[in-house]
Amino acid sequence: MSSLAVVRNPLLILLTSFFLLAAAQQGLRNVSVGDFLNADDRNDTWKSPSGDFELGFRRAPDQQDRFLLAIWFANIPNKTIVWSANGDNPVEMGSRVELSSNGLVLAAPSGKELWWSNSTQDGTGGVSHAAMLDTGNFVITSRNSNNIWESFQNPTDTILPGQELGLDSILSSAISGTSYKKGRFQLRFTSEALVLNQIDAVTGKPFKFYLNITDGSRLIFNESGYILIQKSSGSFVPLAPENTVPKQDSYYRATLGFDGVFTLYSHSRTSYGDATWASWWYRPKDICSSFVSQDPPLGSGPCGYNSICQPVQDGRATCSCPRGFSVLDGKNPLFGCKPNYQSKPEDCNEEGSTIAEDRFVFNTMQFADWPFSDYELLEHVNETECTRTCLIDCNCAVAILQAPELNNGTGRCWKKKLPLSNGRFNQDQIDRKVFIKVLKSDESPVTPPNPNPGEKKQNQVVLILSVLLGTSAFFNISTLAAISLFLFCFYQRKLKDLNRIHRKGEIETNLRCFTYKELEDATKGFKEELGKGAFGTVYKGELSKNSVAVKKLEKFFQEGEKEFRTEVNVIGHTHHRNLVRLFGYCDEDENRLLVYELMQNGSLASFLFGVLRPSWKQRLQIASGIARGLTYLHEECSTQIIHCDIKPQNILLDDSFIAKISDFGMAKLLFNNKSHTLTGIRGTKGYVAPEWFRNTPVTVKVDVYSFGVLLLEIICCRRCVELEMEEAAILTEWAYDCYSGGNLGKLVENDEEARNDMGRVEMLVKVAMWCVQDEPSQRPKMRTVTMMLEGALLVPAPPSPFLYSFKRQDSSNTNSDFL
Ligand SMILES: *[C@@H]1O[C@H](CO)[C@@H](O)[C@H](O)[C@H]1NC(C)=O
Ligand SMILES: *[C@@H]1O[C@H](CO)[C@@H](O)[C@H](O)[C@H]1NC(C)=O
Ligand SMILES: *[C@@H]1O[C@H](CO)[C@@H](O)[C@H](O)[C@H]1NC(C)=O
Ligand SMILES: *[C@@H]1O[C@H](CO)[C@@H](O)[C@H](O)[C@H]1NC(C)=O
Ligand SMILES: *[C@@H]1O[C@H](CO)[C@@H](O)[C@H](O)[C@H]1NC(C)=O
Ligand SMILES: *[C@@H]1O[C@H](CO)[C@@H](O)[C@H](O)[C@H]1NC(C)=O
Ligand SMILES: *[C@@H]1O[C@H](CO)[C@@H](O)[C@H](O)[C@H]1NC(C)=O
Ligand SMILES: *[C@@H]1O[C@H](CO)[C@@H](O)[C@H](O)[C@H]1NC(C)=O
Repeated sequence: MSSLAVVRNPLLILLTSFFLLAAAQQGLRNVSVGDFLNADDRNDTWKSPSGDFELGFRRAPDQQDRFLLAIWFANIPNKTIVWSANGDNPVEMGSRVELSSNGLVLAAPSGKELWWSNSTQDGTGGVSHAAMLDTGNFVITSRNSNNIWESFQNPTDTILPGQELGLDSILSSAISGTSYKKGRFQLRFTSEALVLNQIDAVTGKPFKFYLNITDGSRLIFNESGYILIQKSSGSFVPLAPENTVPKQDSYYRATLGFDGVFTLYSHSRTSYGDATWASWWYRPKDICSSFVSQDPPLGSGPCGYNSICQPVQDGRATCSCPRGFSVLDGKNPLFGCKPNYQSKPEDCNEEGSTIAEDRFVFNTMQFADWPFSDYELLEHVNETECTRTCLIDCNCAVAILQAPELNNGTGRCWKKKLPLSNGRFNQDQIDRKVFIKVLKSDESPVTPPNPNPGEKKQNQVVLILSVLLGTSAFFNISTLAAISLFLFCFYQRKLKDLNRIHRKGEIETNLRCFTYKELEDATKGFKEELGKGAFGTVYKGELSKNSVAVKKLEKFFQEGEKEFRTEVNVIGHTHHRNLVRLFGYCDEDENRLLVYELMQNGSLASFLFGVLRPSWKQRLQIASGIARGLTYLHEECSTQIIHCDIKPQNILLDDSFIAKISDFGMAKLLFNNKSHTLTGIRGTKGYVAPEWFRNTPVTVKVDVYSFGVLLLEIICCRRCVELEMEEAAILTEWAYDCYSGGNLGKLVENDEEARNDMGRVEMLVKVAMWCVQDEPSQRPKMRTVTMMLEGALLVPAPPSPFLYSFKRQDSSNTNSDFL
């Protein structure tokens, strides 16, 4: 008995280990002929040996009951798709992909074949096996050991390191962020160059390119993360990334986005929670103007017809409809806009004039332009004439008046007809005004979500007056006086408004303009104070059930007007996840107020220096959020913006602790990126860069300095100056001493989470030390900072930030004297 048991046991062990081994290799082994995967929620996949990539079925994001056969990054939270077989036709549940002796075959549950790999036959009777490789390439191998099909040879919208594009390969964008259907843009080689082009929706034929990226005939995305181009001479020239070195510990991909931007991304392999794909390099640099710079026009432009393209971040754009137009496809603003009303033949007489002109009014805008849609140009006309000629012309949809003020208010008037193409915001055109013809009943603005109650009241008054006009003669006479009075006041007010707009020149019209009364009601008479910012106090308010923060600027603040305009201008024109959003403003007599989205979690200062220590992960997220927001301000807005007052009091946190930069009252707009010498120190003690005290030009690098100080505060959860801490009083100096003395642990002494992540602490301190370099040119750009924070770039060892060691004693004194 006992001897039998002894014999049996090793067998058992052998058997179990065999099964375990088999189970472990299930995902990793080569795919043999006859192997298959089903489209269902068991999520079986064919994995690459390292587990970085897998091929399998995924529910299509926009059609949850259907499945995509795709390859994706398996080890990052979002499992980004890099290739798909059937983006145009997701399949139903129960479909199956099988490796047959001819290649991969995707079949419906009925057995109907829907897709197959076009494997070349090499005459040996077919497929031996297939494998998902660690590069992300799925390869089918023949019995002759030739690769007869590769996903790398049949790309969709993405290429990966190790992949090449030749003369006959094309990257096609997806149609939207949530669909893998083939979209409107292509990246391909023409006979002489690598270009980006749009395709015609019906024939699929390419338009002329909107960007000629470089001449060459082959693109190689090499294993180190560089994109190289092979020239006709045969030599290789690196295309991307520019001036930076890819870090080896990252994933890379280059994707042609659904918006037509070709972007090289990296993603840290060892990333913390919020890490996303960081954009390293992209073309075109500004998709909105890229189309416009082509002549003749190429299709509708990146945003479709009748829309307006506005650059946001990383070369991308947002698309919006002007007032009087609405989105053509409710889900996708990229497809353009349709007019809410279009002239019908019966609206026009034989001469092409509108019959009922009084049905139309004009909405005005600034900065918008549709450069290719004009059919008439009038010279030396004033505003009245320009709008009048458009009003009575059946063809005219928009008039744009360019009237330099010195010219007696007369100038050139372009008349434009539908469809309007290649629309974009262009802030260089300060002297132009856009008049959009809309139906009177349609005048209500589309962009702000809630209708303007003030406007409604006005219409009611007009209605009452016209009713009165319709009654007795007596009434008519007595009301006539009232009407004249009313019209006079109204006109006066309009005139004042006009003057004001003229004076400001640049106030964004998309923002809602509130009356003082509205905001007084919304805040219940400015009852609940949220805090004090520079130049004003912030109150909590409710506007049509939305919580808002209302900032009331000090009435008699000398520079109040300037700060107000700066703030409205700056944030009125920006749009970024890490910048606070402005809903509107009020500018009535002495009262200047700004209305923002309310940030539930208050300022970073109270969060960072409060009683409870925020989690390490949250702090890391906040730091990279601020860096992204600043990158946007510095590099991605059409007008470069220096914030000038980065500090924890000016960073707000929303309910999911996303950092939002606020308080642009001191910001400086640099039109055309000219470098400026600013006069008068801006900023707050402890955070201001040393060049403010020197006679040297001030650039975006002052924000980089302040960010460096802020980053140290985020790491250490202490203020930048704490006099009672004696030799550690000045945070930047203390941090450098700790860093150079190899004593980083002191910075995060009682912070368990950070102490368990010393590698990252060191990285962050190094980044901060680069940011607070005395010499501005030594400080990195915010884009580089963002990439370093997100693990996409290695951080070299920083030199001592203190250029003039005698300044070290000085600087704190200078600061306190000054501010
Ligand atoms: C998988 O296929 C490769 C050739 O592509 C071969 O070298 C390797 O030995 C195979 N692995 C297994 C586990 O069959
Ligand atoms: C398969 O993936 C889906 C979506 O991620 C998930 O909801 C489901 O629970 C997964 N199924 C299994 C068996 O893991
Ligand atoms: C490849 O296969 C698709 C069907 O999946 C077919 O439409 C296409 O014509 C084939 N292409 C070539 C070059 O054989
Ligand atoms: C693209 O630009 C290159 C120079 O950068 C030029 O040599 C080439 O001819 C251009 N290609 C086309 C199609 O215009
Ligand atoms: C990729 O290209 C870069 C730039 O030309 C080069 O330095 C690097 O060695 C290349 N890497 C590989 C793996 O070929
Ligand atoms: C993941 O994808 C969702 C939806 O596509 C997106 O909103 C989110 O920002 C992504 N998150 C990361 C970490 O990439
Ligand atoms: C515009 O010009 C017309 C005719 O030249 C004139 O009657 C009108 O008063 C002008 N309007 C303004 C606002 O100057
Ligand atoms: C502006 O108008 C005045 C008279 O109204 C005239 O003398 C002057 O020449 C005009 N200037 C221009 C630039 O048209």
